[in-house]
Amino acid sequence: EKDGHDWFMRKEIHEQPRAVADSLLGRRTPAGQLQLDEVRISDEDLRDIDKVIIIACGTSFYAGMVAKYAIEHWCRIPCEVELASEFRYRDPILTRETLVVAISQSGETADTLQAIRHARTQRSKVLAICNTNGSTIPRESDAVIYTHAGPEIGVASTKGFLTQLVACYLLALYLAQVKGTRYGDEINQVMDQLEAMPGHIQTVLDREEEVYALAKSYVGARSVLFLGRHAGYPVALEGALKLKELAYLHAEGFAAGELKHGPIALVEQDLPIWCVVPPRGRDQLHEKMISGIQEVRARGARTICLAEDGDTAIEPYADVLIRLPKVPTLLQPLVAAVPLQLFACELATLMGHDVDQPRNLAKSVTVE
Ligand code: BG6
Repeated sequence: EKDGHDWFMRKEIHEQPRAVADSLLGRRTPAGQLQLDEVRISDEDLRDIDKVIIIACGTSFYAGMVAKYAIEHWCRIPCEVELASEFRYRDPILTRETLVVAISQSGETADTLQAIRHARTQRSKVLAICNTNGSTIPRESDAVIYTHAGPEIGVASTKGFLTQLVACYLLALYLAQVKGTRYGDEINQVMDQLEAMPGHIQTVLDREEEVYALAKSYVGARSVLFLGRHAGYPVALEGALKLKELAYLHAEGFAAGELKHGPIALVEQDLPIWCVVPPRGRDQLHEKMISGIQEVRARGARTICLAEDGDTAIEPYADVLIRLPKVPTLLQPLVAAVPLQLFACELATLMGHDVDQPRNLAKSVTVE
């Protein structure tokens, strides 16, 4: 049942190329138009949407953070991301023109469910991104995009996360198509890039031994930090969450630009810091990330850099270099999250923890 793996989690990490491919299946018409069958909100209503609010918990929340970057960039619609547990208690501004997007692997998370119930009382449209057919959250939503990860057994989400990212990109592209903020050929170009992702994820998995070797040297570490920028920031947060959940280790993710405003005080000799290095591009993200890395190295941190193939500029600043396939910045979370999942799984295994059922956690939390 675990396909020869020791844990469901490890099996599920390896299922990600397939899960991502399945989640992309049948989304394009022969004419090259994007279609999402389960979106039961008319194009007319979608054109009127003037704000998107994403609500979710845990790992799903981090997928929502990536979605914000994609939606604002491709659709030019203001987008907020909010923890479901905070949402209704702050009296959020919701109108008929607000699209609320609820992201939940299980479809049963009570915080998220209560948030969408609140949104519906305010007449906002609710769209669910969910992995579980017929669960409560999609049943109570106006529309749903199902991810096709298959059942996720490991309590810590892996393939659930990657397929949520895919659904978020699809939603963003679909809104761009309906709103006319992106042309068909641009949308098709991104779809082509998305369809290449299962192969890229497989490439990362083929290099898993490097990550496992690294995990060995961090048994006994007391604290691990993660840095990222742009779409790499939620990846940093997710990497830290995985370590907390599985290895019961103090771990924190930061936006690299925020480092100098406080967290850099935490850096001491030999502190391990994972750095999610953005692809080189016209946006200076890469250069800015390198200067952050230089700052922490100057203070004795050991940097483990995730950087794209061919990025030689990073080499002098990486104590350990894990290579990622070359992909666009917005899509990089689909490959960058994978080594962090493997690292947490392996480190927790070496520490003798139950990876599939970490202490104190439940797969779906049905109390608020
Ligand atoms: C937590 C799980 O309880 O719920 C996390 O341990 C998960 O892994 C979070 O990300 C949200 O769950 P869901 O099912 O709403 O995506």
